[in-house]
Amino acid sequence: MNRQLVIMTSDDLKKAAAYAAADLVADGMLVGLGSGSTLVHVLRRLGERVRDSGLRIVGVPTSYQARALAIECGIPIREAMDVSELDMALDGADEIDPAGNHLKGAGGAQVIEKIIASMARRYLVVADGSKWVEHLGRKHPVVAEVVTPALASAMRRFRELGGRPVMRTSGGKLGPVISDLGNPIVDVQFDGIDDPARLDAELNAIPGLVGHGLFVGLAAGAVIARADEAGATVEIVEF
Ligand code: 5RP
Repeated sequence: MNRQLVIMTSDDLKKAAAYAAADLVADGMLVGLGSGSTLVHVLRRLGERVRDSGLRIVGVPTSYQARALAIECGIPIREAMDVSELDMALDGADEIDPAGNHLKGAGGAQVIEKIIASMARRYLVVADGSKWVEHLGRKHPVVAEVVTPALASAMRRFRELGGRPVMRTSGGKLGPVISDLGNPIVDVQFDGIDDPARLDAELNAIPGLVGHGLFVGLAAGAVIARADEAGATVEIVEF
């Protein structure tokens, strides 16, 4: 038998997971729309379903990026401030562990992303298999958003908790990256996170910290695409 090996790029895998996740969205749903490159594929697929199959949904975007793309894709939107509950939310992640705890915020949208995830009856993380880790926080930082008067004291507290905080700066602007909500972003690298629930609580107790990208106990499941000989296999993991 002539077997053909299909080489999948990481973006192909993101797209495979994204399409499978977007196809879980049902008619009539109010859906949280996450941010990042995986979510670009989710939004494009939802847009196709709205256009070609008459899917009736309303999206609630987590960032300027998601908002602009939803409009471009023809997905009707409502703003988070006008909504208290969602049927489903789909979003990407930087790392996910087997308990469903995950790190977000490479795109700096983690505060609104957490609000939207927490409003959803079913919040699913969508990712390629490279994001799956046994132990969170060895590669990616915990991304924190802090109001400016609290920057120095929050930096000290991050260090006390064992982290190495660095203000995020941008290639497109001199100085700090300012989030969609108008606050600076700090990347706090740890040498692994042994107890995600404890760190979550410790971070939440920092005065002036608006939010952070460690998501504990929020995800109902994950849609993960991994490469195999035939291309990609998509698995839905329930937490
Ligand atoms: C943005 C995020 C993203 O969802 C996360 O960084 C994953 O991004 P990508 O899909 O591009 O790998 O949290 O704040």
